[in-house]
Amino acid sequence: MKYGYFDDLHREYVITQPDTPLPWINYLGCQAYFGIISNTAGGYSFYRDARLRRISRYRYNNVPMDFGGRYIYLRDDDSGEFWSPSWQPTRHELKDYSCRHGMGYSVIGSTYSGIEAHTRYFVPIDENLEIWQLTVTNHRDTKASISSFASIEFCLWDAQDDATNFQRNFNTGQVEVEDGVIYHKTEYRERRDHFAWFACSEPAAGFDTQREAFLGKYRSWDKPATVEAGQLTNSIAHGWQPIGAHQVKLELAPGESRQLVFVLGYHENPSAQKFDPPHSQTINKKLVKPTIARYLDLNNVEDAFQKLQQHWNNLLGVFQVNTPDVHTNRMVNIWNAYQCMATFNMSRSASLYESGIGRGLGFRDSNQDLLGFVHMVPTRARERILDLAATQLPTGGAYHQYQPLTKRGNNDIGGGFNDDPHWLIVGVSAYLKETGDWSILDEPVPYDNEPGSEQPLYDHLQRSFNYTLDRLGPHGLPLIGRADWNDCLNLNCFSETPGQSFQITTNKDGKVAESVFIAGLMVYSGQELAAIASRRGLHAEAEKYRGESARMEAVIREHGWDGEWFLRAYDDFGNKLGSKDCDEGKIFIESNGFCTLAGIGLEDGRAASALAAVGERLATRHGIVVQQPAYSKYYMQWGEISSYPPGYKENAGIFCHVNPWVMIGETRLGHGDLAHDYYSRINPSAREEIGDLHRCEPYVYAQMIAGKDAPSFGEAKNSWLTGTAAWNYYAIVQWILGIRTTLDGLQISPVIPTNWPGFTATRSYRGVTYQITIDRAGPGNSIALTIDGLTIEGSVVPPPTDGRKEVTVKGVLS
Ligand code: GLC
Ligand code: GLC
Repeated sequence: MKYGYFDDLHREYVITQPDTPLPWINYLGCQAYFGIISNTAGGYSFYRDARLRRISRYRYNNVPMDFGGRYIYLRDDDSGEFWSPSWQPTRHELKDYSCRHGMGYSVIGSTYSGIEAHTRYFVPIDENLEIWQLTVTNHRDTKASISSFASIEFCLWDAQDDATNFQRNFNTGQVEVEDGVIYHKTEYRERRDHFAWFACSEPAAGFDTQREAFLGKYRSWDKPATVEAGQLTNSIAHGWQPIGAHQVKLELAPGESRQLVFVLGYHENPSAQKFDPPHSQTINKKLVKPTIARYLDLNNVEDAFQKLQQHWNNLLGVFQVNTPDVHTNRMVNIWNAYQCMATFNMSRSASLYESGIGRGLGFRDSNQDLLGFVHMVPTRARERILDLAATQLPTGGAYHQYQPLTKRGNNDIGGGFNDDPHWLIVGVSAYLKETGDWSILDEPVPYDNEPGSEQPLYDHLQRSFNYTLDRLGPHGLPLIGRADWNDCLNLNCFSETPGQSFQITTNKDGKVAESVFIAGLMVYSGQELAAIASRRGLHAEAEKYRGESARMEAVIREHGWDGEWFLRAYDDFGNKLGSKDCDEGKIFIESNGFCTLAGIGLEDGRAASALAAVGERLATRHGIVVQQPAYSKYYMQWGEISSYPPGYKENAGIFCHVNPWVMIGETRLGHGDLAHDYYSRINPSAREEIGDLHRCEPYVYAQMIAGKDAPSFGEAKNSWLTGTAAWNYYAIVQWILGIRTTLDGLQISPVIPTNWPGFTATRSYRGVTYQITIDRAGPGNSIALTIDGLTIEGSVVPPPTDGRKEVTVKGVLS
């Protein structure tokens, strides 16, 4: 069944039932201040880094689900009855409940006992704060006396410590309250220069800052003692659990509507100006007060919301398409692009499944995320590339992750994932194809953030590629290291100890196990790097990369081909993985997807054979699984992969991230019907009707859908933060619709379903708007292009030389 519907006109998903199968979330903020918000107002906020600068507290994996949030309560001061218009935390039966998740905002509300209330939550552009804009309307025919309470539980900044180090935490909590504004300043007295603040647009009838005073002993958020009693207690927190709570009393005539604004913000003071007066312990509020005042004014709030809307109009306006398939349109035009912003910002750090504590930004992940993001804000993509490259090690290898706040490589997961360096080439290449900004290659970038070690970015790409040349195994294939794209293929970790990390433990010398996937990736990155080198006039070097790429392709043909499909790897014993000779795990998606994406075997039938095998053995109606047969038991010599029960995650789950590699491979074979069919199987919008099975949000991709070996076949998990977002966007836009960025300009080369009569699209590219119309005259994929009425050769649209800012492209497929 469905739990809501798409409102494409407003770019919203409207949830009409609060008890969705799982919390369905949205992201607030897209620059430095971020929050996640569920359809019942659960979630939390942070500044830049979900672990190190957590602003509000959240209870992961709680009972009931999804606890800790931006909670508003209303209380009928005549009857004493109270409820939450967002359903949680009181969970009253509400009338007309809805949650509209939109681009950077969510509006949640309902009607209860004749009182309608909606809260619009959003983060204004360029500000480090969030607005809760509450509208309350009295639909009764009598006047209503309503108290509204807004509450937030503060996190003591380091989310990991906050959840564990209670012997300290229960002593450090501090607040100030001044002019009705609550300031959370734990640790401000010592080394922190930042604090949070919580303000309210109306004179408050009371506040609380101590959690127990607000909730009462042994009570939870569903029944705070103060809300029940109708009066906050003006408590000041010393230690324990600082919160912010405001109470506002409203007298509403019949039909009357009122708006209130609550604002939660984050502020950093210059360290020399922390206190006012200087030798006191009181926060200097001079610098933050103008911001507070600005957003307590409803007109400014409205302006800020309009600015946010405009921001998203601009971002999404870069590419819009109109095809015969509604699911394609709404994902490409709205939700998939939007999800790409979230993955760009968060990498894999903060979602309902990623606690924000465990992982920083991944080197491999963030580079791939650029594929779906670079067209929206190229300047931020540029900055990200330089940040990532600065964490690269002098060997060309990479820390697997870095902390967004410090921009330093984080050694928690270490390095030595031998695919990592190549993704930098992929990311930089995507940037160059989008922008034509060759200057990025000359930017001096350090290694391992070591001052003095700066080299041009181009040098980093060279080392990335050479990294693999220096690490070839017995068959001449790349050594896998700790793992390749598949984090769970840990062929150098034989672990028998429960809880031991598969990613950090290496107890083999690493000189035998090889990856056919990295080989395919290297063929691809070699071609990309060669193209970049030629464009820079480095012809000999380009030749070298082309040569290495071709040599590796030959090695794949000889040692990476299993007869009908590409092998996956050789393990530490030199045994094959992903071969017909294996008992389980006979065929894997990654090597077959990536090798065909890279164009290997297009001419000699191997690509066609490999993808036919994928279709036959791995494809299911819910998507393509990682491998078959699933591993039915634990194989110590292959690492984490078989630690998962069959059908989940890397053990034969439908890992949506890699499905697009097969889609792209199919387009390279000219199979538009199949490519789009695969695309549709995992398209969340197309799965909306099976909400009870799919369970995750129908508007964003999930990392994984349980595979056919799992009892819950078809159930999605780990929505939002996944490489699936960027890769699906890239596959549908650049390969199926075929509107592809190249170093030389925009290429138009669709491989669409045969029954599509065509489509239209608008693309802003390097300062020019391309109005594109594709018509189908025959069932094939050859295209005849006219540009502003003139026929051109080939499929790459030459950039206008006469300063035109708008170009009309017509393509006829036959
Ligand atoms: C997760 C990781 C990604 C990895 C994938 C497969 O999505 O973030 O880096 O490639 O799993 O293991
Ligand atoms: C990736 C994989 C996950 C694995 C993790 C280890 O996220 O998807 O299965 O446990 O990496 O870091």
